[in-house]
Amino acid sequence: MDSHQPPTVALITGANSGLGYAIACRIIVEFFTPRTNDYPAASNAGTLIICLATRSIEKAQSAIASINAFLSSRLPERERSRLELAHVTMDLSSPISIVAAAAELRKRYLRIHYVFCNAAVVPFVRIDWTMAAQQLATNFIQALTVPRYKIQGVGWLTDTHSKLYNTSNGSDAAESPPPPELGAAFAANVFGHYYLLHEVMETLHTPATSPENLSRVIWVGSIESDPITFDIEDIQGIKSTQPYESSKTLTDILVLGSYLPGAREHFRSYTTISGREASMVPPTDSIPPLFLIAHPGIISTTIVAIPWWQACAKNVGFWLCRAFGSPWHCIYPFVGANAPVWLALSPHVDLIKGRKWGSACIRGNGEIILETEVDSDVAAHAARLWSQMESIRQRWKVGLESQRWPQ
Ligand SMILES: NC(=O)c1ccc[n+]([C@@H]2O[C@H](COP(=O)([O-])OP(=O)(O)OC[C@H]3O[C@@H](n4cnc5c(N)ncnc54)[C@H](OP(=O)(O)O)[C@@H]3O)[C@@H](O)[C@H]2O)c1
Repeated sequence: MDSHQPPTVALITGANSGLGYAIACRIIVEFFTPRTNDYPAASNAGTLIICLATRSIEKAQSAIASINAFLSSRLPERERSRLELAHVTMDLSSPISIVAAAAELRKRYLRIHYVFCNAAVVPFVRIDWTMAAQQLATNFIQALTVPRYKIQGVGWLTDTHSKLYNTSNGSDAAESPPPPELGAAFAANVFGHYYLLHEVMETLHTPATSPENLSRVIWVGSIESDPITFDIEDIQGIKSTQPYESSKTLTDILVLGSYLPGAREHFRSYTTISGREASMVPPTDSIPPLFLIAHPGIISTTIVAIPWWQACAKNVGFWLCRAFGSPWHCIYPFVGANAPVWLALSPHVDLIKGRKWGSACIRGNGEIILETEVDSDVAAHAARLWSQMESIRQRWKVGLESQRWPQ
């Protein structure tokens, strides 16, 4: 490895399967062998470290073995020697696990250039077949783009809170009021990433002397986000019948709202390096990371746990949608990774920020990246949501510290 140049570091959550795994493969390919103007040759010819964040070591090891097999035919040996595949274990539903993983990341990396906030869950229960038949009969493509017939668990929470506060773990629970419980989809899809980013914020700051090289946080959104699924009085989606879509709508508003004046104060408090972190960075001014958002279109993964025969039928449906002109049915995760990876590597910062981008496929033209309309009223809600997110984060921070949980 080139010891003179600092490595470029990319952290990918949920990197053991589906889109996260594809993002890992694709960013390696595009970083070392850019094929189009959209993917400029990496300005530094240094090393690339891909850190796969997964829920277990075994999952990371298996993903690394698969990535190596994938690269054997795609990446020449010279480039291969400039790549390092690393991993870190974390459960994004558990702030305790996140704090431990963040400490490990801070120890390892002075700087993280790209974070892909990709991991997510759909709290899927079953398919409502009557609703599915109706939606499929009314609009086949829409039914396989924005399915409204996934019945999801209402009120599902993570178990972290109960482990901390409902069991006698020897701590003084009266020291401070407990932090709020966390909705299952909210925790894994949004809050876990939000908490993680703050915990590694010092690695995401760029010295003010190189503003062209800002770290980028690429949030993975969805074409399924919709203001109808989101209630500002229930930002965790705990009462929602569509907590997954609610979490993705929240993501849109947080990311796109991070540039707006109303949310700026909260964004600043969130991204400020203070206390422990301040001692780790150079005393010069530094610049926080850019928040960006992309979605993969529609791809074939196992995020919704359905039996094999339903998965086969779904894939046939996806191909039909594509044949009938849907641009969003990318189907292959590697194709779906186009927009997220482009947001990381694109030199067109002013173009990419403040907008939502999606991977798409057009028959005859192949892969493209399309701007995606966001129906939520970002300007109206951003400040309040940023404030609420900060409040939840700070309550958890205080809660964990007062519990003297191992950090
Ligand atoms: N599939 C689509 O058509 C589609 C469309 C729009 C957006 N997306 C977005 O794409 C992203 C990836 O989804 P996917 O379709 O690739 O699904 P997937 O294959 O199920 O991948 C989800 C990943 O997230 C991880 N994960 C879930 N909960 C976690 C937690 N609490 N802590 C840490 N990791 C956790 C999973 O790890 P385990 O293996 O340990 O469960 C898995 O690696 C998501 O943000 C999703 O919303 C997908």
